[in-house]
Amino acid sequence: MQEIDYSNLEFGYHPTDYIVRCSWSNGKWGEVEATTEFTFPIHVSAACLHYGQLAFEGMKAYRCADGHVRIFRPDFNGERMRRSCQALAMPELPVDLFVGMVEQVVRLNERHVPPYGTGASLYIRPVMIATTPQIGVHAAHDYLFFILVSPVGAYFKGGFQAHPYVITRDFDRAAPKGTGRYKVAANYAGSLLCHRLAVEQGYSSEMYLDSKEHKYIDEAGAANFFGIKDGVYVTPLSDSVLPSVTNDSLVTIAQDLGIKVERRQIPVEELAEMQEAGACGTGAVIVPINRIDDPAMNRSYVFGEPGPVTRRLYEALTAIQLGEAEDKHGWTRIVI
Ligand SMILES: Cc1ncc(COP(=O)(O)O)c(C=O)c1O
Repeated sequence: MQEIDYSNLEFGYHPTDYIVRCSWSNGKWGEVEATTEFTFPIHVSAACLHYGQLAFEGMKAYRCADGHVRIFRPDFNGERMRRSCQALAMPELPVDLFVGMVEQVVRLNERHVPPYGTGASLYIRPVMIATTPQIGVHAAHDYLFFILVSPVGAYFKGGFQAHPYVITRDFDRAAPKGTGRYKVAANYAGSLLCHRLAVEQGYSSEMYLDSKEHKYIDEAGAANFFGIKDGVYVTPLSDSVLPSVTNDSLVTIAQDLGIKVERRQIPVEELAEMQEAGACGTGAVIVPINRIDDPAMNRSYVFGEPGPVTRRLYEALTAIQLGEAEDKHGWTRIVI
């Protein structure tokens, strides 16, 4: 087998040994199977291919300082997956089944969990698809839930660096009462063109405003936004952002550190009063933002290098995930 240089690994797909899967038909879940078969036949008329009945999750397993492998708040992702399924009229996956299958797939692929200290981790991707062959527009009767894993490299290769973002006023990510708060494929398909245009202009990612009034910050690409204003952690309150496990954890850590937290609408112009800004999500934990351009308004909000509060929060959360700091909220679960 080819040796992998985990310290330089990209965030991409790398083959592993097993996936786990479980089917829903006749109104119930079947047996959980582990398989080395990574492809499966799918009917040309399967509902997921036509009507986008597809919900998914994203989480990571970390090899820790003490040699154990930990996963972070899998119940949060399981509960979010349940809500995503409900929103797409799919069977609600029980959270216990979700967490049990996540643990099983990590154990089966233990040799692919990157070593501690490389910054790399094992990405876990649970997916549910509708498989019933049909043409009519209605919820399917049959579903497949499967989980694949892949080792992925650290987001930051050359240290904790800040990145430029651009506000888009030509695209909305999700409607106010739409699917934005769920992790479903359609949200991502609809954002790919906008993301590509932002990257072509030299930005790391696009920033979405609320789609009703285009006045308030909504999502930072495929991540939640937070800003630090006079020592206060401010993050958008919106029905169309995905409830992020990372943001939720940063809020708790901030409160533990005595930092005040405000969840509320953030008018775009308020960025001028913030000293730090970041995008948070499982992939990078925090991407510090050095600048947010708003070309349509001819404005630029500059934050510069990663600030002290952003750094402190990043270090505190990653230390818990890597088993280096006390996990006083009981967030991590030892799998191996
Ligand atoms: C649209 C969107 N927002 C926010 C997040 C961050 O969520 P989490 O911290 O649960 O990874 C993600 C990533 O999953 C995302 O896709």
